Amino acid sequence: MDKALSGIRILDMTHVQAGPTCSQLLGFLGADVIKVESPAGDATRKQLRDIPDADSLYFTMLNCNKRSITLNLKNPQGKEVFTKLIKICDVVMENFGPGVLDRLGFAWNKVHEINPRIVMASVKGFGTEGPYAAFKAYENVAQAMGGSLSTTGLRDGPPLVTGAQIGDSGTGVHLMAGILAALLQRQRTGRGQYVECAMMDCVMNLCRVKWRDHQRLEHGPLTEYADQEFEDFTPRAGNDSGGGQLGNAVQCKPGGPNDYLYVVIQEQVWNAIAERIGGEALLNDERFNHITARRQHQNEMWQLLTDFASDYTKWELMTILNEINVPCGPILSTKDLANDEHVKLREMYVELDHPERGKWFNLGCPIKLSDSPVDIKRSPLLGEHTDEVLSEVLGYANDEVAALRQAGAFTR
Ligand SMILES: CC(C)(COP(=O)(O)OP(=O)(O)OC[C@H]1O[C@@H](n2cnc3c(N)ncnc32)[C@H](O)[C@@H]1OP(=O)(O)O)[C@@H](O)C(=O)NCCC(=O)NCCS
Repeated sequence: MDKALSGIRILDMTHVQAGPTCSQLLGFLGADVIKVESPAGDATRKQLRDIPDADSLYFTMLNCNKRSITLNLKNPQGKEVFTKLIKICDVVMENFGPGVLDRLGFAWNKVHEINPRIVMASVKGFGTEGPYAAFKAYENVAQAMGGSLSTTGLRDGPPLVTGAQIGDSGTGVHLMAGILAALLQRQRTGRGQYVECAMMDCVMNLCRVKWRDHQRLEHGPLTEYADQEFEDFTPRAGNDSGGGQLGNAVQCKPGGPNDYLYVVIQEQVWNAIAERIGGEALLNDERFNHITARRQHQNEMWQLLTDFASDYTKWELMTILNEINVPCGPILSTKDLANDEHVKLREMYVELDHPERGKWFNLGCPIKLSDSPVDIKRSPLLGEHTDEVLSEVLGYANDEVAALRQAGAFTR
């Protein structure tokens, strides 16, 4: 069946998380993703294993809809096969540490020379230029250096990492946009180009509203923050909404770790909330009858809502507030989500089979295209498609494949 990216062939050298999330999305949308692994394989295959000798969930959840081949890029015959693949692919992707591509002999100028039409996409911690360019990076390093840690957490607590993998997966999504844009430009110019996403830059981009607040501080305090003491940088905001409307996580019964409802008090819903939780008296209370007053008395307002919520579960409170059109959402655990009917209906948690691990689940594709339905295929075993790709895609005969294997171009 025709898919959005049918006919696009990706030579995917990426490993760990930042690159593989991007190539997996491209695979979901129909690209033929050929994952090139070193003879040892992507390190995540063996990391955080739950089942002995089976590819870990760390690997399987990030590498669906790909074919795997092994190639030793430090072996002359391995380099030869790789060069042939560069000639017939549309995109080559990598997220190696600084200098690795140069050492392998496949820097952008070389790749561009081999195939002027190919798009080359790289994730680097900090880009290829600048004082930080030589540093390696992982998720939390990028979160730290992109401004996320300093703005996440409670005001009087330490900086906190966020559970969303904004440094790795967030960068992968940015890279995907860059690749698709470069492919569109190639349609007009016939030329490929180099796409680079630095994890630090992408985290900064995802923290964009914190930079809004950084500059607003020059003109006075940020009135929407519950804590009104400021220095000259954007502070941690706890669960404050951080937007034009006030919001916070309200504790509900029975008081477990995730028994909270996140409630946004949109200006237009205040009267309905006030009437529901405090009747006429609250409706006329001058501490809350205007957004400016509510900002000033924010902590008292949240306390009133918390007192009201103590009689209800997060789901009951959600029903009450939805009836009066208040934007709100329960804090859902991974267990809640794994069993959620809405999640199932959206195909966001799908069951797959795997030769080594049996039944397992992967998250679905969050990008829904009406003419390109996503068919999620399990992650490949290491080198599962080496013979297939060499013969079908590159036209090698069986004895040539055997000779290359013998010469150490690949192991599986
Ligand atoms: C993630 C990271 C820190 C891992 O560091 P690392 O384990 O030392 O891995 P590197 O990418 O630096 O190096 C990979 C090595 O494997 C080798 N290698 C990779 N694929 C190979 C192949 N197919 N054949 C032979 N060798 C291969 C490389 O040549 C390199 O060896 P070298 O150091 O002798 O040149 C690093 O890759 C990095 O900073 N990447 C960019 C930022 C990023 O994406 N981080 C997020 C990861 S989720």
